[in-house]
Amino acid sequence: MSINKKALEFYSTQSINEQDKESILEVLDSDYLSRGPKIQQFEQKLGKLCNNKYAVSVNSATSALQLAYEINGIKKGDLVWTTPITFVATSNAALLFGAKIDFVDISPETLNICPTLLEKKLKKAEFHSRLPDFLTVVHFGGSPCNMKKLYDLSIKYDFKIIEDASHALGASYKDKMIGENNFSLASVFSFHPVKMITTGEGGAVLLNSEKDQIKALSLRSHGIDPTKSLEINKKPGWYYEQSELGYNFRMSELQAALGSSQIERLNQFIKKRNVLAKYYKKHLAVLPVKFQKILPNCVSSYHLFTIELTDKNFSRDELYRFLKENKIGCQVHYIPVHLQPYYKRQGFSDGMFRNAENYFKNCLSLPLHQTLNEIDLQYVCNKLKDFFSKS
Ligand SMILES: Cc1ncc(COP(=O)(O)O)c(C=O)c1O
Repeated sequence: MSINKKALEFYSTQSINEQDKESILEVLDSDYLSRGPKIQQFEQKLGKLCNNKYAVSVNSATSALQLAYEINGIKKGDLVWTTPITFVATSNAALLFGAKIDFVDISPETLNICPTLLEKKLKKAEFHSRLPDFLTVVHFGGSPCNMKKLYDLSIKYDFKIIEDASHALGASYKDKMIGENNFSLASVFSFHPVKMITTGEGGAVLLNSEKDQIKALSLRSHGIDPTKSLEINKKPGWYYEQSELGYNFRMSELQAALGSSQIERLNQFIKKRNVLAKYYKKHLAVLPVKFQKILPNCVSSYHLFTIELTDKNFSRDELYRFLKENKIGCQVHYIPVHLQPYYKRQGFSDGMFRNAENYFKNCLSLPLHQTLNEIDLQYVCNKLKDFFSKS
């Protein structure tokens, strides 16, 4: 077997097989390219996977986050806390409603929101009578947060939890699937091509009741409640009724068909990513790098495999350049959100969330996806060894 050089150029990428292609072609030959049976089929499969029948598909995780916030009553001036180590979409979606954002620093081990730092911040916030309304947690890289601890704090301090599970389709927390919402009001998934499965672009929100699901279906399509349009059977077939202000967040039939086919392959994807992650951990253990800690009794979906350089004599940016020169895909996840110019203009500055900033300075995501094999990773590991042997 030879090295798959093309696949190594990406830190993550989609895997499309004949079954995926056929499912799209079938839609092209059908009567519906939008609002047809594939959407419901995909939502049912998602629901089954997550043990949660209230799944609603949309055109991106960003839209899904907006729905999660809106359905759970976010309003102007509400305070939303989240992690700085995420993509800007997590907090942007709340800002769009006029909410205020603040961050809780990460644990340097799990790279997720640190429950101890959260508790400290909550105590202070209680003293100043400015407790958060929402906490949006991110299962960074697909590794589940300590949901029980976060949930206990949400009960004590009375805030709502949303899970930005964009990285974590197929991951589980103590035998419960992420998306089952045992400790939260909503979970959000992304189907961008680098994620666990893809629909090209796309996302979904998993909710906790039929009422929330109907609201999401309505908001997804201009505030037109589809159940009402059906219910009003005394009206002619052309009738529709807009009862609130909504969006066009709809996914197409082509996307849903691809998602439906991909979700059947998810188990295989997760297994492969876990095998590859184990390989990296074994073969890179001799190098001055640290890996993300996965909590006991949790399965990470390994959307990302990140390393953190631990020897000050080596620079992350030099490693990035070296790997790129060798045509090895890598990426930095993430520039902490509070350091983005837009957020700095809202009052955030360097030094506010030290764990996130230290991690950012030294982190790099290595290639990890289902089209890679151990032989490809062996090449990456050898290159990494070359880099660290040059000092
Ligand atoms: C943690 C997180 N949240 C939200 C998003 C937004 O996803 P989408 O591109 O599907 O809107 C991403 C995408 O990278 C993400 O990584």
